[in-house]
Amino acid sequence: PLIHVLNGPNLNLLGKRQPDIYGSETLADLEALCRAAAAPHDIRFLQSNWEGQIVDWIHEARDEAAAIVINPAALTHTSVAVLDALNAFDGPVIEVHISQVHKREAFRHHSYVSMRADGVIAGLGLQGYVAALRHVATLIG
Ligand code: DQA
Repeated sequence: PLIHVLNGPNLNLLGKRQPDIYGSETLADLEALCRAAAAPHDIRFLQSNWEGQIVDWIHEARDEAAAIVINPAALTHTSVAVLDALNAFDGPVIEVHISQVHKREAFRHHSYVSMRADGVIAGLGLQGYVAALRHVATLIG
């Protein structure tokens, strides 16, 4: 079964943006890491800066994907629309943050997505995606 790996706003700048917080590896590096971690499962690895695009991809996951691994980025803290879309998806959802959001500004401590997520990983860097994918692989068999 296919696993969707969804990435929200500004993660296209991974490796260039605030490397002290998000590290120096790029989104392409992350995709390669995720593909290796998910094998033999196939992944659909996507990134958008647009909230509606993320919502549309979650809708597509209803027919296509057995599980979703999502780093909603800033939408984590703002988006009821992403939460509602995830509530319309039946499979496992794991929320991943590269940084340890609870050590950062107070506005990063609340997550709408956590009200739906079956697991939440923060602060493990890109390895958080690896842990999430290994976990969902055991769930979907
Ligand atoms: C992030 C944390 C968010 O607070 C932030 O807006 C991001 C990335 C992370 O991966 O650590 O863009 O989701």
